[in-house]
Order: sequence, then structure tokens, then C-alpha cells
Amino acid sequence: MKKTAATVQLEAVRKEYDGGVVAVHGVDLTVQAGELVVLVGPSGCGKSTTLRMVAGLETITSGRLSIGGRVVNDVPPSERDIAMVFQSYALYPHMTVRENMGFALRLRKRPAREIETQVNEAAETLGLTQYLDRQPRQLSGGQRQRVAIGRAIVREPSVFLFDEPLSNLDAALRGEMRRELAELHSRLGATMLYVTHDQIEAMTLGDRIVVMHQGRVRQVDTPELVYQRPADTFVAGFLGSPPMNLMPGVLVGDGERTLVRPDAAPSLAIAAPSLNVLERLPQSGAVVLGVRPEHLRTSASDGTSADGFDAIVELAEALGHEQLLHLRVEGVPLTVRGAPGVRPAVGSHVKVHADPAHVHLFDAASGVSLRRAD
Ligand SMILES: Nc1ncnc2c1ncn2[C@@H]1O[C@H](COP(=O)(O)OP(=O)(O)O)[C@@H](O)[C@H]1O
Ligand SMILES: [Mg+2]
Repeated sequence: MKKTAATVQLEAVRKEYDGGVVAVHGVDLTVQAGELVVLVGPSGCGKSTTLRMVAGLETITSGRLSIGGRVVNDVPPSERDIAMVFQSYALYPHMTVRENMGFALRLRKRPAREIETQVNEAAETLGLTQYLDRQPRQLSGGQRQRVAIGRAIVREPSVFLFDEPLSNLDAALRGEMRRELAELHSRLGATMLYVTHDQIEAMTLGDRIVVMHQGRVRQVDTPELVYQRPADTFVAGFLGSPPMNLMPGVLVGDGERTLVRPDAAPSLAIAAPSLNVLERLPQSGAVVLGVRPEHLRTSASDGTSADGFDAIVELAEALGHEQLLHLRVEGVPLTVRGAPGVRPAVGSHVKVHADPAHVHLFDAASGVSLRRAD
């Protein structure tokens, strides 16, 4: 599109609803021009409230919101140069696709020919050309959502806002629409702020991901970094399926190495990451140990490997491309992801090994990662 994309900047943006519910505790975030940033987190964490404050659909209790360098706290939605796409599509039921898509331009009294060109172009982009004369009820859910997206595109906003746009679609269609949105973003080069509770959408769509929890931002990073270096135990447990194994424990030394010993399994010790990657150690030595299922491996229990600890197989799930082993080590549950193969029998013994380079340590009191930022 010809229009330049705008930056969106939130500075300590806070929302307290009537009755004292603090939905958003103060968000600091800068979305660069042309960037697609995904807000992700569990239901009720404040994603929609944050997005709706950017849209101007909710007042901002305190803090500052700028779009394209202009403070817009008190600017009405229609003057913010944004377009929003909702989960519910919000199409006009009595209008055709063509009329729905051109509506905002008609309101702006644009010339008929310009409206037609814009609508045709957007319809082409979204594969809607043959449906232009239909009404929304004559379309599938996926087509309706495309119309809602088309309606946003024709307005050429400097910022697109999406609130769970794919959540009403079935899994296969969600995957398809996700790829289309990614393509649309790179084609338009537009600034997009996208809300979802779906970690796959967040990981695949976002240039950067903002993980929210209980009205606070827990981490802002690229999808890779959010996954590889979760800032705290919440992020560690939220992204990844199955999630990271998390066990409270203490740091202990065995003379040469530093080990982490889970509380629940006094004889089990896992080599800790080398101390030079850690920012600090908690005074009490109390940590939470985190290892992703793919960073654990098993070997036969009669193996001679020195490190590695005994586990009992509780469940082996064959998923075709991989196998998930649910194990128990002295009462501690552990999930191990491995290549498909012979499924160990339930109740059998295996040895588990952790890759120390991929062991995460968090402060047991705060949940914050002990790893040094670099
Ligand atoms: N209009 C409102 N009045 C009072 N509380 C609200 C209102 N809208 C949302 N909330 C509360 O604010 C919190 C965040 O809600 P929301 O932003 O919708 O979360 P999300 O989109 O992440 O699911 C929730 O606890 C919710 O109950
Ligand atoms: Mg929401």
C-alpha cells in the first residue's frame, strides 16, 4: 500500500475498570513501523483491553499512547488512523460483501471509482472476487473473516489491530488463514498488533511476541528468544507443547560441578548450566529447574552412563512424527520428547539424561530467570 506504516508506543499504559479491576497494570511497548507484534497470554490477562485502548474503544486510565509519534490518549477512534478486525467479524448482515468492504470509504465520501478500485484490489488479494455480490450469511466463517480483513485493508490504515480474528474457525482453516495473514503482512508492510491466546499463532505470525499474564507484560522478544530464553516460569510453562518440565529444587555442588537437585527427588541431580551464563544465584539456593521435553533423552536402564537417573514409564504416546514419554522420577513427573520408535512398556524402567546446555534456572521466590541477558 502507498500509505506509510506508523509506530505505536505505549508508555506505562494502565487500565482500571469501574469497580477497581486493574486489567492492565502499566504496559511499556513500542511496535515499530511495519512490524507485526503479537500479544499472547491466557484468557483474562488483559490482551483485549490493551488492544482496545490502542483502538480508542476503552479509555486509558493513565500512561501515554502514541501512534505515528502523536499522543492519541484523547483522540477518538475514527481519527487514530487504525482499523480493527474482531473475532466476531462484525459485518453488516444486510449489505453485500462489496458494500461491507467499501463502507468506510463511502462514509469518507470517496469517489465511487476509487472505492471500486480499492474494493476490487482487496477482494483479489483475499480471494473474494467471486463473492462480492453475496451477503455475509451466504459465506463460510473463513470467507466472512476475509471480508472483515478486506474491510480493514481498503481503509489503508497506518495500523491494523486484530483481536483473536481466527478463533471462530476450525483448526485447518485457522492454519490456512494464519499463512494468508503472514503473507498479507509482508505484502502490505503494515504495522500490525495482533491478539491471540494461541501459542502457535503467536510463534508463527509474530516478528516479536509480547507474553502477558495477569495484566502485566512478562516478556517481549522474538519467537525464538521467547522459546529459548523464557524470562520467567510463567513464560516457560506457557509456550511449548507439551510445556517445559519445571521442578523446584536447590543448587548443590559435587566438588567439581554445580548440580540442581529437585526437592521432590533428593537423589536426583541434573548438571546446571555453567555458572558464567547466570546473572546471579539466589541466596537461599532455592531455584526452579526447567528442561524442555526435547532436551531430555532416555536410554536403556541397564546403560552404563554415569549421569542419568532412573525413571519409570507411566505413559508412552506415539504421535507419528515423535514420541512423548511421560515418566516419573521419585515422584517427579517428567515429559520426554523423542524420535518415534519402539514404545517402552508402561511400568518399565529407563534412564533419563538432561542436556546441561539447555537446563534453565529460575529464582524460586520470584520465578524470574537467573540467566544473564546478553
Ligand atoms: N468492561 C469491563 N469491566 C470490568 N472488568 C473488565 C471489563 N472488560 C474486561 N474486564 C476484566 O479485565 C481483565 C482483562 O480482560 P481482557 O482484556 O478482556 O482479557 P483477554 O482479552 O486477555 O482475555 C479480566 O479480568 C476481565 O474480567
Ligand atoms: Mg480478549
